[in-house]
Amino acid sequence: MVGMLKKDWASQNSIALSWLEPNLPPLAVVDYEIKYYEKEHEELSYSSTRTKVPSVIITGLKPSTCYVFSLRTRTSAGHSAYSPKYEYETTDDTSDMASDQGQVLVIVTAAVGGFTLLIILTLFFLITGRCQWYIKSKMSSEDKRRTNYQNGHAIPYPGVKTYVDPDTYEDPAQAVHEFAKEIDPTRIRIERVIGAGEFGEVCSGRLRTPGKKEIAVAIKTLKGGYVERQRRDFLREASIMGQFDHPNIIRLEGVVTKSRPVMIVVEYMENGSLDSFLRNHDGHFTVIQLVGMLRGIASGMKYLSDMGYVHRDLAARNILVNSNLVCKVSDFGLSRVLEDDPEAAYTTTGGKIPIRWTAPEAIAYRKFSSASDAWSYGIVMWEVMSYGERPYWEMSNQDVILSIEEGYRLPAPMGCPVALHQLMLHCWQKERSQRPNFIDMVSFLDKLIRNPSSLLALVEDIQCLPESPGEVGEYPMFISIGDWLDSIKMSQYKNSFVAAGFSTLDSVAHMTIEDVRRIGVVLIGHQRRIVSSIQTLRLQLLHEQEKGFHV
Ligand code: ADE
Repeated sequence: MVGMLKKDWASQNSIALSWLEPNLPPLAVVDYEIKYYEKEHEELSYSSTRTKVPSVIITGLKPSTCYVFSLRTRTSAGHSAYSPKYEYETTDDTSDMASDQGQVLVIVTAAVGGFTLLIILTLFFLITGRCQWYIKSKMSSEDKRRTNYQNGHAIPYPGVKTYVDPDTYEDPAQAVHEFAKEIDPTRIRIERVIGAGEFGEVCSGRLRTPGKKEIAVAIKTLKGGYVERQRRDFLREASIMGQFDHPNIIRLEGVVTKSRPVMIVVEYMENGSLDSFLRNHDGHFTVIQLVGMLRGIASGMKYLSDMGYVHRDLAARNILVNSNLVCKVSDFGLSRVLEDDPEAAYTTTGGKIPIRWTAPEAIAYRKFSSASDAWSYGIVMWEVMSYGERPYWEMSNQDVILSIEEGYRLPAPMGCPVALHQLMLHCWQKERSQRPNFIDMVSFLDKLIRNPSSLLALVEDIQCLPESPGEVGEYPMFISIGDWLDSIKMSQYKNSFVAAGFSTLDSVAHMTIEDVRRIGVVLIGHQRRIVSSIQTLRLQLLHEQEKGFHV
């Protein structure tokens, strides 16, 4: 029998539960069955779901409704008895409204406090002559709702630091000096060029600070010949980064603005960006190490969303990794970030958006929020668990949008624990209020790390995509097995495929991971590449058929 069935979190339509694994040696747990029904309707009708791990996210529930849950364990000897019943409630429809009302209350309270503060500050400025803030109010209504303004400045709610948009400053140069330290350039030693940014070179080097140990830094430079707008856009990132202080957010050391070249100096991250780091180390990490990276990113994102900052371009390419595998969120700057991102494409409404990483409501009507960041976080989870695979592979942006609209979601990467794929799917709920927030995600990932056996159940097959309905000869892409293997640089397996009877792409589209292993693909990285390409084949086939290429 299992112990206490605990509620991890609840939203309007979902409840996440977890429990301690029973100690049943020598019987291994096959799976758990969770039975649940609406309390009001007693046991007239109930639903049940199975999971191989000691946690589950039950979706499709009614808001504001009490549900009764009980659980039983299946081992090779059969089912255990059901656990006692536990009652948990989903949150109500109006919780957004309630939190809005809560915020209004906070705003009113803070406004009264703010007004008092204003009087004190005015007296202070009159006495000291230090009045220096001129701010234009250009924030979106959502930003305003989160932030209490006084002369355009954010007054944090008690205990909550709030992000200030540098664009609300009449003079953006002032924002930089408010949030970033000016560094004397003689303290910086540039060592080598490590990359190219939109504004100029990115270098590595050392920074000396009197009385402190010299540290490794990355230095972003603004190349000569810039116009004022470019300088402002360049320094905007520093004004944003300088407001954050968290172990999973890239740390700003300071800026050089009083001499040329203009520079932004940040902590050095030895392993560079997460996407290329994973691609270069395919299969090298344990699942716990990967979940540790994801936990760090979620923790950084929780901090940002608590501060009221919406990233808009969360993707593995915008995460940096240090020598201890600590992942830090980087690339700040809202619209500029998107201009800079090679993945960002123009939408029909004229915005430039990284389609594969972006929530549908943000693509359709630019509704960016922490909930759209949660969608992107789900995509980052998928990138991490697939060692830097491209989300939706080579599908076109238009096909990605259509597939998401039709309800298609990325399948679990090879070797991905069920619990992680469940969390990804939760992040990709169409209805943004149903996505988990970053607090929930950090605590969920913490639980997985504390209880590694919860990660043992893997999504072990080429799954989640409908079986290829095409028959031999109907395949939409008129290429041979050889061409296909060439295209994914796996031609060395051509004979193995053919010898095992997989001589048409249609037969390949039906292969399972076991088939791939059986024909002699031993290396995990090669299995991953082949499996991922088979998933693409199936998806392409499905799409071609839906578009009516086949009768
Ligand atoms: N590339 C861009 N920023 C970097 C950083 N902070 N460390 C290492 N490489 C980088």
